[in-house]
Amino acid sequence: MNDFNFYSPTEFVFGKGRETETGKYVRKYGGTKALIVYGGGSAVRSGLIGKVQRSLDENGIGYEVLSGIKPNPVDTPVYNGIEICRKSGIDFILAVGGGSVIDTAKAIALGVPYDGDFWDFYSGKARPEKALPVATVLTIAAAGSEGSPDSVITKTDGMLKRGTGTDLIRPKFSVLDPELTQTLPAYQTACGATDIMAHVFERYFTNTKEVEITDRLCEAVLMTMIKETPRVIADPDNYEARANIMWAGMVAHNNIVGVGRDQDWNSHGIEHELSALYDCAHGAGLAVIMPAWMEFVHKHDVMRFAQAAVRVWGVKMNFADPEATAVEGIRRFRSFLHSIGMPINFAELGAKAEDIPVLVDKFGVGSGETGGFVHLKADDIAEIYRIAAKAEL
Ligand code: NZQ
Ligand code: ZN
Repeated sequence: MNDFNFYSPTEFVFGKGRETETGKYVRKYGGTKALIVYGGGSAVRSGLIGKVQRSLDENGIGYEVLSGIKPNPVDTPVYNGIEICRKSGIDFILAVGGGSVIDTAKAIALGVPYDGDFWDFYSGKARPEKALPVATVLTIAAAGSEGSPDSVITKTDGMLKRGTGTDLIRPKFSVLDPELTQTLPAYQTACGATDIMAHVFERYFTNTKEVEITDRLCEAVLMTMIKETPRVIADPDNYEARANIMWAGMVAHNNIVGVGRDQDWNSHGIEHELSALYDCAHGAGLAVIMPAWMEFVHKHDVMRFAQAAVRVWGVKMNFADPEATAVEGIRRFRSFLHSIGMPINFAELGAKAEDIPVLVDKFGVGSGETGGFVHLKADDIAEIYRIAAKAEL
């Protein structure tokens, strides 16, 4: 096991109706005037924004509003949000929504106290030193941004999707009410489930030896998702299944299942170019990419893939041919994703094989290589896109 620090200071406020306590927690973490950030309208239609505003009123917290954040969030609203905050004396950013809203809120929080362009933190030109406090009221179990130090934004100029990570933007608190996720369309629920599983797999496939505790935690989260996702797809109002998935989404990405080991993250990087170019849901892009990446890299450590197949997917170990076991695990993953309504190839996602050179170019590895479980050169990334393009059950 590698040495590590684990810092996850977010206070999670979990359960039915807990969003009515939002104002109390903003006050607890020092906010006096908040910027409420939300998306395209689902949180208004469900009455959530009204409840949050009432709760802020009751606690004497003033607020301004920034709405209309779209999935795969871009930089423009971040600049607007920074301006509103500076003009109105905002001292707290409150995201009400999913990963796109939360990541926008985090970008604004970084941008307000910074003299330069907030994009410097995403392009790697600068490291953040300060941020306004951020908190979330989560409406979809997916990105894990409610407990993560990360934010992913797309620069409109060039459609470059890039992330930054700093503990400064770990939410002070996150309200997790599983009932808020009951209004999600089945497709979005499934995209979220795929992202959650991908966050675990990115950590599970490691070259670090002897990390049994995190292996077992990863397997528990994956098995929970395999059990609960079909239940919520069949019965969207199933509170208990929603609750398990909501907590799994947080656990999958605050890094408790990833400490002490090297991690991969190449599937995420490869997917981000798809969601930047085609504006598809991040989870749907991962459903196409992640099994293709597994097929490309599994020979690097057949026994680790076989372990996942046996422990997570219940495949019987073939001791004479462990690779057959590994491959069967990957097949079951893709088949599971298909069964919950996810695309499994480029055609189903709405991507085009002829764009592969553009995707590889935007990925930007140049003549170098990535880090991770298997280091990838540009040709390898192109091959993963090609496998994904033509994948079948
Ligand atoms: O905009 P509204 O109307 O709210 O609709 C949203 C949006 O269309 C809808 N939705 C959310 N909650 C709902 C709901 N509809 C009905 N009822 C509800 N309760 O769902 C759609 C997708 O929302 P979005 O916020 O985009 O989803 P998600 O949470 O999957 O976030 C995806 C973004 O997060 C990034 C992704 O790349 C993508 O840009 N990620 C962020 C990470 C992080 N910060 O740690 C890590 C992830 O790996 C990921 O890269
Ligand atoms: Zn993700």
